[in-house]
Amino acid sequence: MSLDFNALAVKYDTPLYIYNFDYISSQYEALKVAFGGQKSLINYAVKANSNLSVISHLATQGAGADCVSIGEVRRALKAGVSRYKIIFSGVGKSDSEIKEALESDILLINLESEAEMKRVELIAIELGIEARISVRVNPNIDPKTHPYISTGLHDNKFGVEIDMAKRMYIYAKKSSNLNPVGIHFHIGSQLTQLEPISEACEIVADLAKTLIALGVEIKFFDVGGGLGVVYKDESTISVNDYAQMIKEKTKKLDVTILCEPGRYMVANSGYFLTKVLYEKQTDSKRFVIVDGAMNDLLRPSLYDAYHNIEAVGVDGEKSPADVVGPVCESGDFLGKDVELPPLEHNDLLVVHSAGAYGFSMSSNYNTRNRVAEIALMGGCDRIIRARESFEDQIRLEVAYLQ
Ligand code: LLP
Repeated sequence: MSLDFNALAVKYDTPLYIYNFDYISSQYEALKVAFGGQKSLINYAVKANSNLSVISHLATQGAGADCVSIGEVRRALKAGVSRYKIIFSGVGKSDSEIKEALESDILLINLESEAEMKRVELIAIELGIEARISVRVNPNIDPKTHPYISTGLHDNKFGVEIDMAKRMYIYAKKSSNLNPVGIHFHIGSQLTQLEPISEACEIVADLAKTLIALGVEIKFFDVGGGLGVVYKDESTISVNDYAQMIKEKTKKLDVTILCEPGRYMVANSGYFLTKVLYEKQTDSKRFVIVDGAMNDLLRPSLYDAYHNIEAVGVDGEKSPADVVGPVCESGDFLGKDVELPPLEHNDLLVVHSAGAYGFSMSSNYNTRNRVAEIALMGGCDRIIRARESFEDQIRLEVAYLQ
């Protein structure tokens, strides 16, 4: 798609997040079609991009939501996701979050420890209700991704081991206030190989069969998220192979497949637009200093993640440059050794694949205002989050009086 980044920068200023909603629709549709013939629900992982308009855009097409805080549950409800399509995961849910989730009557709560199960039971007793639950199983599989986003190994804090999961299901089945309806795993993010997910699926499907034989009525088989996307030239998993594999592994189970893609839905819908402030040449390096920074897009600094960066409409002989922001950290960069033409004040750079874990991981570090977000749909652009102001940032601070 060719976008008029110059016009968008004039209209909305920079730095700016731009999301192509038509792309998000086509990603959703492709996954839904791949699961054709199988009962399935796509629970968009809200953490990837939590903007209300993004969630409601997906909800309109039938998506549910995977949430990891009560804030995300509230976002999903506010965006119009049906409560029976919302699931609540996360290793550290507080009592008040559990209470609100139960009162909201969402589809289910994913449990990540025995202690958490006991708290959910206690709160369900207090409320006089039955909590629909699912247990996150940690299948101890190396997902072959960045260690910070790997979650399915016993070294990771997530989920419980198989034996513990069995004990939890047996306990939950006997409890009058717990209703174990699902089983869950999620082994990591940005997975580019099918094999680890397929192994995990097999282990968890075997466990589901055992549980069903023990009388636990597992209705939902949740395969987590993690579908990798192309940032550079990596080959990744095809959604058809993915869905086919899941259908195959679960064919003996009468279950609805839940899946929780975040990045797959939104990463390549998004562009981060930033303006050149200055060029600076040291003895050893060329720096392009831009108005966007690590507080806006943290992935390069945090994971050394690659994002393709291009100059908008500028020609000339290219040479390598580090694209850096104004934040006072040497780790504040958007790209290293990026091949760029000579640049001038106010030239635009576009950072690709910025729709997932971009704005949602942004902060106010260095008292920088969070940037604006806009949506493109059917050839029109509209603002979906206004640019923050300094007043927005300090609104909740209390003046210290002598
Ligand atoms: N389900 C669970 C339980 C998760 O923990 C996650 C992501 C997802 C689904 C969605 O995963 P996805 O489909 O997006 O891979 N900030 C990192 C990614 C952290 C992912 C955390 N969990 C990044 O920027 O790469």
